[in-house]
Amino acid sequence: MLRIAVPNKGALSELAIQMLREAGYRQRRDARELVLVDPENHVEFFYLRPRDIAVYVGQGSLDVGLTGRDLFADARVDDSAEEIMALGFAKSTFRLAAPVGAFTDAEQLRGRRIATTYDGLLADYLARTGLDAKIVHLDGAVESAVSLGVADAIADVVETGNTLRAAGMETFGAPIMESEAVMIGRRRPDRDRPAGLDVLLRRLQGVLVARRWAMIDYDVRRDLLERATAATPGLESPTVSPLRDESMVAVRSMVPIEDVHRVMDELYEIGARAILVSEIHAIRL
Ligand code: PRP
Repeated sequence: MLRIAVPNKGALSELAIQMLREAGYRQRRDARELVLVDPENHVEFFYLRPRDIAVYVGQGSLDVGLTGRDLFADARVDDSAEEIMALGFAKSTFRLAAPVGAFTDAEQLRGRRIATTYDGLLADYLARTGLDAKIVHLDGAVESAVSLGVADAIADVVETGNTLRAAGMETFGAPIMESEAVMIGRRRPDRDRPAGLDVLLRRLQGVLVARRWAMIDYDVRRDLLERATAATPGLESPTVSPLRDESMVAVRSMVPIEDVHRVMDELYEIGARAILVSEIHAIRL
């Protein structure tokens, strides 16, 4: 059985569980369940603290896990585990921040104190950039560290920036890391790839594509077909079906979700009618 680690708390947990459900796996209904077996798919899910998932996968107790790229980097287990797929949700950046106006450049932190809950990630950044600063480890709420005098700046996860703004702080310097939810797996030779892993990855890939694309259907006069299909080229090639009225055809094509309304407007202008857009529930390319 493929053993998969899933975050048990926070936004990462909810979105990971939702994605696994969309990929056709059973998921726990009760947040107190620690393990769930999905016998039909030959997988077993283990619900763990997001921060610990890289450790379990790195040590080989579990085959793969869903976690944040930042949490994975912070665990410093990349000699034994690796990112195998980016999952497109829970996007954030890991950044330096300080009270508004205090710093403009990371270089100014030389000899200063930086508070964080991501010591490993910050230490790697300091080593990589040759910046000599002291790391102050905290367990959370690092936004208070500067005003309470234990640090000069912080390094933390920034998503909307609301938490920083509310604390009178701002980011400075380039982002240390661009993060999102990722699937990680143990580093091992291909011949030792666990059974079920390829199916899991293909299914997740399917969910990612289904989330990015919609299906568009419309009717158009044959003499306008070239122009209409140029606006809806699809992934491979649009399906064109005859209609009873021989001067018309029906067209079906995939369209990127963010382009749906622009494409509908364009098709209408060209002369297409009965333009329908529907969600794609699942897909295998
Ligand atoms: C992170 C981070 C900030 C907040 C930033 O905490 O530590 O507090 O999110 O988000 P914002 O830019 O949208 O305001 P998270 O909610 O991940 O929980 P944590 O404190 O357990 O890390």
